Amino acid sequence: MWTGRFSQATADLVLKYSESVSYDWRLYRYDIAGSIAHARAQMKAGLLTTDEFAAIETGLKEILADIEAGKFHWDTKLEDVHMNIESELTRRIGPAGAKLHTARSRNDQVATDSRLYCRSLIDDALSALTELQRVLVQKAEQYAAVRIPGYTHLQRAQPVTVAHHLLAYVEMLQRDVERLSDCRRRVNVCPLGSGAIAGSTINLDRSAIADELGFDGVTQNSMDAIADRDYMAESLFCLALIGAHLSRLSEDLVLWSSAEFGFCTLSDAHTTGSSLMPQKKNPDVCELTRGKTGRLYGNLTAMLVALKGLPLTYNRDLQEDKEPLFDSFDTVLHALAVNAEMIAAMRINEARCAAAVADPLLLATDLADYLVRRGVPFRRAHELVGKAVALAEKEGVPLSQLSVEQFHSISPDFGDDPCAVFNLDRAFTLRTNPGSPNAQRTAERIAFWRDKLGA
Ligand code: ARG
Repeated sequence: MWTGRFSQATADLVLKYSESVSYDWRLYRYDIAGSIAHARAQMKAGLLTTDEFAAIETGLKEILADIEAGKFHWDTKLEDVHMNIESELTRRIGPAGAKLHTARSRNDQVATDSRLYCRSLIDDALSALTELQRVLVQKAEQYAAVRIPGYTHLQRAQPVTVAHHLLAYVEMLQRDVERLSDCRRRVNVCPLGSGAIAGSTINLDRSAIADELGFDGVTQNSMDAIADRDYMAESLFCLALIGAHLSRLSEDLVLWSSAEFGFCTLSDAHTTGSSLMPQKKNPDVCELTRGKTGRLYGNLTAMLVALKGLPLTYNRDLQEDKEPLFDSFDTVLHALAVNAEMIAAMRINEARCAAAVADPLLLATDLADYLVRRGVPFRRAHELVGKAVALAEKEGVPLSQLSVEQFHSISPDFGDDPCAVFNLDRAFTLRTNPGSPNAQRTAERIAFWRDKLGA
């Protein structure tokens, strides 16, 4: 590749250290598409005859077919995917292949390939996110009427519904969809034509190349285009945050599927057993999702650290961008798919949910609101209900079983019928504001999502 200037062959250890084809071979499809677009522009500029272009295009398509058929030999001596494909092309078609690299560098080539890869995998991630959203909406609808305690500090707080809880994740995933879609706009810009750093004296039609490759436009500064990996860092951040969301969902399901909660049962197909304890049924998928989120954060960090302190423009450090990027997309796509399948197969245990949500303490805030409606300032109402909770605890009775006399021993403000508050239908009916776990509101939101997601 650079034999002209060197009098020694590259040392074996250096070859092993610097090769990237063992992982960047995955860019072959984008590399070939980029090369065909580049060659077409060369032909239009009079640098290739139509026959030469045809030979390049056919040769590259045959190489593509061979790669997909597993018949292509990748050679680490040729360093990377770009050199492997180009040298094989030249071996197959002769001199025309050697013209392909005119007005191009591996620097703008790798940036182009990586952007095409990111764009394609972002589209896969968007579909996978939407699929998981659909599954969650479907579960929410199936169990729309099932009430459960909502938790803060993992302590029982106020009543919600399974639907409201699951739909919270649909909202989160929608932000992921929007974030990735926005990131995609910055990914989808074509750097080809930036050359090694300063463009080329041979000017090809950059817009035509960009159009052919489905880019929305071309980069505007050759140095920035070569040095830029922001689109990767952004993609990795979006993927890390998807990981955070899936990890929180996983933790909820680990809790819900425990004997202590018992709110849900995961299918046998999506759980694993123990080699020692015959009774065990473990939520390993949830735990792995939680664990793999650490890798997603690690990949983002690796990318950010690799970029820090790099002078413009290309530095070989940038070759370290691909493994974290590939790993994060692989990890997130797998996680989204397996979680969608697992949640689709999950059952909600309505009796266990009903027993848990029957705890009258979940309506202590509603009792304070009841006092507020009777003219008591909220801070005072909070204190009075707090006293009632303490009294119930002391007497060893549920809050809803205190007598009117006992309530009145705390304050006459409790009126004639404080215990009317301890009615879940009432509690949900009163919460009419948008965003509340009210049956009507939930039905509206489910209808909204069904329409939006095409479910
Ligand atoms: N394999 C290289 C990478 O991934 C391609 C660019 C090589 N450029 C260079 N100047 N050595 O970054």
